[in-house]
Amino acid sequence: MQTIHTLAELRAQAAAWRRAGERAAFVPTMGNLHQGHLCLVKRARELAPRTIASIFVNPLQFGPNEDYTGYPRTLDEDRRQLQAAGLDLLFAPDLDDVYPRPLEEMTQVTVPGLTAVLCGASRPAHFLGVTTVVAKLFNMVQPDIAVFGEKDWQQLVVIRRMTADLNIPIEIIGTPTVREADGLAMSSRNGYLSTEQRAVAPTLHATLQTMAARWRHGEQNYPALEKEAKAQLTAVGFQPDYFEIRHAETLLRPRPEDTAADLRIFAAAWLGRARLIDNLAIAPLTS
Ligand code: PAJ
Repeated sequence: MQTIHTLAELRAQAAAWRRAGERAAFVPTMGNLHQGHLCLVKRARELAPRTIASIFVNPLQFGPNEDYTGYPRTLDEDRRQLQAAGLDLLFAPDLDDVYPRPLEEMTQVTVPGLTAVLCGASRPAHFLGVTTVVAKLFNMVQPDIAVFGEKDWQQLVVIRRMTADLNIPIEIIGTPTVREADGLAMSSRNGYLSTEQRAVAPTLHATLQTMAARWRHGEQNYPALEKEAKAQLTAVGFQPDYFEIRHAETLLRPRPEDTAADLRIFAAAWLGRARLIDNLAIAPLTS
């Protein structure tokens, strides 16, 4: 596996693969890798002969009081894991190469509508930071395919929309959420949890499952289900941010004609200093 830090070297390698007719699949990350990220790499390897991952902790997607400075940076260990996973190329650009001018002077990419709800409502500039950096990374890496996790479902639909709207010739692939044995979605932020909080954390997924089952069994008063779910989470020590049933693709609220298959439940809740997010399809037999 090569590790490349500069755009010029990345371009040279990508161009060589293109000349050889080899397609490339790309996995963007912020590092501190876990099994969830590694599953995306595995999927990328199934999809294309060449695989590229990036590690870049993107300041533009963190709010002023969020965890940008404290976000775990573990490049050596990440590199070891990526090498073992069979990745071809790790791109780890420096901050100044991605943002050579002050952030507020850089061109930004905005996806309206989809970014106004759920995490976009509680983290106002978050998705603008995500879409801007992903558009830049797409232009730097120029892959044929890019792989994203369903754990960040809203991010996945926002990236799909951006890619379609900007006519970016990259196929976007979603990959199911990888969970710990007790159901907790794997996340770099799980490391912020104390032992006691870690024991409570799977309740987020369990509550999603309970509410999905109740919806499927005909309890379709969604404001009532959402309110009850938030109360249950609060009772075990979470501070719920949102717990909402929405249309999986448009992220709109359910309409009477929407079937369970179209719907997903989205949750975000604080547990100590960790903000955990998760989501689940209401339809049976999917992630
Ligand atoms: P990061 O949180 O590092 O996640 C990188 C990718 O891994 C995302 O596509 C995310 O959805 C996926 N992922 C994280 N946890 C997962 C899990 N438990 N199961 C499956 N996939 C999982 O998401 C970002 O970074 C950034 O916003 C980024 C897209 C890199 C832009 O900066």
